[in-house]
Amino acid sequence: MSWRFYVHFSRLPMVQRVLYTGTLSVLTVGYLFAMIHIFSSHAGRDGDPMLSVDDIIIAYSGSKNGTVLESALVGPMSRMLSPEENMVIVGWIRSGVNEKKYNTEIKSVLDKRCITCHNKRNPHLPSLESYQDVLHVTEQDTGMDIFSLIRVSHIHLFGLTFIFFLIGMVFRHAYMRQEWLKITLVAIPFIAIICDIASWYVTKVYQPFAWIVIISGGLMGLSFALQVFISLYQIWFFKPPAEARPQGLCETD
Ligand code: HEC
Repeated sequence: MSWRFYVHFSRLPMVQRVLYTGTLSVLTVGYLFAMIHIFSSHAGRDGDPMLSVDDIIIAYSGSKNGTVLESALVGPMSRMLSPEENMVIVGWIRSGVNEKKYNTEIKSVLDKRCITCHNKRNPHLPSLESYQDVLHVTEQDTGMDIFSLIRVSHIHLFGLTFIFFLIGMVFRHAYMRQEWLKITLVAIPFIAIICDIASWYVTKVYQPFAWIVIISGGLMGLSFALQVFISLYQIWFFKPPAEARPQGLCETD
């Protein structure tokens, strides 16, 4: 067994343990909010309120029988209006987006419920201010467009790498009897990030890859949880067994 440059938490000064605890705690809260965000922006697209593989498929590759507006109205936007208003809009889409009916019935609902967010001043959301604008989201749903994917990809690649680097830098001070397991836990998220993001694009053309999105997301979460839990536990409650302690560092075989 080799423990090159290994310093256990229990040998670190108090200030470093407090710094690590603060960082891990706040990152955990951030991770929980990220999960809530994933859930609220994807769940329900397929009509069933739980998050499922079909929701992921619809998010990335689109829905065979719906429009962007309909997917949003059964999914993440369903909370923005009453069920009656929702039915009126869906009925209007299915009956062929008639312009006269738009002016008499639809525009007032959209003005009241949607355009506070969906207007021309917000470049990230489709505008719903005019009939022409609304036509853009009543076309066949082909999933997230490639430019949004690229934008979200680079944010995730930078953000997650940063987070897992921090977590790994803390976790390397943990004691694990099996060093390969420690290395695996640190390596998993980086592999998973790449698989996850690559699968968003593949899912657009080959839907079973939605499973890779889910599995790699799950592995990332598992590795995050284990690294944080083991670190926090060992920072405050654990002394490594004698065989891993003698000088604490630079002990090699
Ligand atoms: C509080 C702000 C807000 C309101 C109000 C709102 N939306 Fe949204 N809408 C968003 C955000 C943020 C997104 C993008 C995130 C997401 O997909 O969950 C979005 C996404 C959408 C999309 C999908 C866009 C795409 O390219 O996939 C549609 C369609 C949509 N909204 C329609 C509506 C309709 C119709 C209403 C009114 C009934 C409405 N929204 C009300 C904030 C809002």
